[in-house]
Amino acid sequence: MQMSKKVTDKVSWVGKVDWELTRFHGEEYSTWQGSSYNSYLVRDEKTALIDTVWLPYDEEFVTNLKQTVELDAIDYIIINHAEIDHSGALPRLMKEIPNTPIYCTRNGIKSLQGHYHQDWNFVPVKTGDTLQLGSTSLVFVEAPMLHWPDTMFTYMTGENILFSNDAFGQHYATEALYNDRVDQCELFAEAIKYYANILTPFSSQVAKKINEVLALELSVDMICPSHGVIWRSEPIRIVQKYLEWADSYQENQITIVYDTMWNATRRMAEAIAKGIQEIDGSATVKLMNAGKEDKNDIITEIFRSKAILVGSSTINRRYLSSIGALFETIKGMRFSGKKAAAFGSYGWSGESVKLMAADLAEAGFEVVNEGCRVLWMPDGDALDACREFGRQFGQAL
Ligand code: FEO
Repeated sequence: MQMSKKVTDKVSWVGKVDWELTRFHGEEYSTWQGSSYNSYLVRDEKTALIDTVWLPYDEEFVTNLKQTVELDAIDYIIINHAEIDHSGALPRLMKEIPNTPIYCTRNGIKSLQGHYHQDWNFVPVKTGDTLQLGSTSLVFVEAPMLHWPDTMFTYMTGENILFSNDAFGQHYATEALYNDRVDQCELFAEAIKYYANILTPFSSQVAKKINEVLALELSVDMICPSHGVIWRSEPIRIVQKYLEWADSYQENQITIVYDTMWNATRRMAEAIAKGIQEIDGSATVKLMNAGKEDKNDIITEIFRSKAILVGSSTINRRYLSSIGALFETIKGMRFSGKKAAAFGSYGWSGESVKLMAADLAEAGFEVVNEGCRVLWMPDGDALDACREFGRQFGQAL
């Protein structure tokens, strides 16, 4: 059972740490470190609850909340974002306190009504609207498409806390609650994976919204997102990271993603990697078999890369299905400023390379050449040709 945790004299964490979560968004997103659904109780002269938790934990959430506060004492519910991982416990809670006003954006009302079909006491808010709690107040800031049309941030004056919902979150289960109390490599690995997989399509809105909030010159002592840790130590660091990530982010990395039937395309990938390293010894080159490795981990590595190569055998005049799933995902992600090329082995018709090059272009990559094909299993000469292809690719970057 998850008890509440004190954040400040006026703010308590009343969420759920989900240690056993391994998939999120249905089966779409891998969460190797679990996650948390952060809900916050704000108590001044008036009491407000900010967000709830995911549906499977609704009973546990309400039971725990009752141990922290008389439910009738909750004056306001703030729903920063209606996705079910944050609003799932709302119907159960509203059975107990059905008339409590729910503050959210106009799009939030539409989303909540669309999900739950209830005519609750909705109060629409927009940027700059304020809810006085006593000596402190809540100020609402709409943040559409970060990452749903309904999303907003809530800023608490006096305590100087930004409740940012999904922004700055991580799928990272911890009992430690704060960013300075967890393993920093784990934390930033999950933060960048979260950005890469969820926020990449909205990078232009991310940068715009962050700059808009920075221009308000608010004091921010803590950022309390709806997943993972609270950023209390140097919260500006994750804000700066978001600005970097939103700006066509890349490291000195080249990722070679491939799938292979009888290891011919794998051998090509390894030879190409050698060729790249001969030209650019300082670059990190990573090989990932899309048939074996996790799609979201691959997306994270693509996000970090300045260039990628995608390889597949030809099968039934197409490419292998794991590569198909990858393209389906990255076509919606709007990566920018990254170079690419395709490669693959074949036995007779050999369409895969041309198809992959076209898909890379459609996904927004700059395709730097026509790609590299090998008939049947590469012999020494063919591997030399792959190595040379790697050198040329390295030179083109
Ligand atoms: Fe964590 Fe968009 O929900």
